[in-house]
Amino acid sequence: MSHGYKKLTAEQAAELIQNGETIGFSGFTPAGAAKAVPSAIAAKASKEHAAGRPFKVGVVTGASTGPMLDGALAKAEAVAWRTPYQSNADLRKGINNGSIRFFDMHLSMTPQAVNYGFLGKFQWAIVEAADITDNGEIVPSTSVGASPTFCHVADKIIVELNSAHPKTLRGFHDIYEPANPPHRQPIPIVKPSDRVGTPYIKVDPKKIVGVVETNLADETKGFDAPDPVTDQIGQNVADFLAAEMKAGRIPKEFLPIQSGVGNIANAVLGSLGKHPDIPPFEMFTEVVQDAVIDLMRSGKVKFATGTSLTVSGEKLKEVYSDLEFFRPRLLLRPQEITNHPEMVRRLGIITVNTAIEADLFGNINSTHVMGKNLMNGIGGSGDFTRNGYISIFTCPSVAKGGKISTIVPLVSHADHSEHSVQVLITEQGIADLRCKTPEERAVLIIEKCAHPDYRPQLLAYLERYRREGHVPQSLSAAFAMHEQFESTSDMRGVEWDKFGD
Ligand code: COA
Repeated sequence: MSHGYKKLTAEQAAELIQNGETIGFSGFTPAGAAKAVPSAIAAKASKEHAAGRPFKVGVVTGASTGPMLDGALAKAEAVAWRTPYQSNADLRKGINNGSIRFFDMHLSMTPQAVNYGFLGKFQWAIVEAADITDNGEIVPSTSVGASPTFCHVADKIIVELNSAHPKTLRGFHDIYEPANPPHRQPIPIVKPSDRVGTPYIKVDPKKIVGVVETNLADETKGFDAPDPVTDQIGQNVADFLAAEMKAGRIPKEFLPIQSGVGNIANAVLGSLGKHPDIPPFEMFTEVVQDAVIDLMRSGKVKFATGTSLTVSGEKLKEVYSDLEFFRPRLLLRPQEITNHPEMVRRLGIITVNTAIEADLFGNINSTHVMGKNLMNGIGGSGDFTRNGYISIFTCPSVAKGGKISTIVPLVSHADHSEHSVQVLITEQGIADLRCKTPEERAVLIIEKCAHPDYRPQLLAYLERYRREGHVPQSLSAAFAMHEQFESTSDMRGVEWDKFGD
């Protein structure tokens, strides 16, 4: 790995970081996350704490990362504050017990918030690269995320040059950063495959204080094999979209798909791929998961652009062993572009995201269990849902072995409002909420989406409270199912009679 920058060990790099500083790390999902240096910073924090000295830093990333970044820093109690999306168990614990300050953000907005100075000064950008040139061209690895912004705003940059990624990844990225208002121009992308930027992040080489050479695999987990519930959800999404095409509400060329994160999203894509009436399509999405790679091989996905290549180790090997097949089909961009409302509206993206719970009117909780405990964060779900051509939410109708209904009278935390959510799909069926009144929505959601164990209970709620007003709702009973779960660990069998009107 020849380059003219100062070579540092991860420990030497960590020594440069001071208590109270703010760091922008590469990483969007564990893909492309800085790994060696954050782990070394965590070890330094533990030493400092043992010596009785305070040591915590502000941690900003593209989105969630893996155990070597979020996990190590959280375990070492080295995180003063954190934004945006995260999914690490140790970090989540610290956030929910109040020891780590966390505030959530739409992922498209994180880079501009950093640029506008809303998050204060960034002393450091610590980013993983597949390659670097002496004139300051940093070729990201498996994600772009917010790294271009971090590199531009930070005083100093440390690069983790990771030989686990081939240098031939150069060309798989399109780095375009919108100027700040009042100088911002329209983003010149009119189809998913348009390239409008550079294949590298260009920085002043003088800002790069050192390069840490590593050989570390992304800490990306594999996916669960689809089960009958996720399979049925996927089938329902595919059937719905095929019917929309047949009805002429989706053009025959189809429209680009955005699909969320996790097992359900992976299963949905698998079903779209198998559906005979859905033509080969393109993806303009945030995260490119395993299923997309398979669909590229089968010809069903013609092109995919996202901000991260979040695939299992096995799948990444497959991609790296045949890079030239994927080169014309795969492009990674900054999250500011993949999730940009301008793109989502212009391209007419069909958005598919997963809910923790949905209420009878189509409001969605994506982030907080029982309204209190943070699960992961809003991620890009708001960016896409609010602006999609058709905005779909999916979830299983029950959680925790049937003791929780994901369909509730009122969501215990609101991330997406009824005005942004057009279709709700569970393994039970499809509720098309477009042009429906609140009461019509409630009937549809109960009939089509709720689990049979909960339908009578939800219908009884609706019957009892549909008497007056535009929205059939009871301020005193709306959270009765949640309250009962908190005392008995089961939402079944709530009786509405004991509540007032
Ligand atoms: N109450 C309590 N727990 C619930 C629940 C509910 N209503 N609904 C789901 N859960 C639990 C599940 O039991 C599971 O718990 P476990 O990890 O202990 O098994 C966990 O939440 C994950 O649920 P799962 O059904 O496996 O779905 P998932 O892995 O697809 O994740 C979200 C679902 C909502 C947590 C995830 O999609 C997310 O964080 N979304 C927000 C960000 C987003 O949409 N990003 C995409 C934009 S591009």
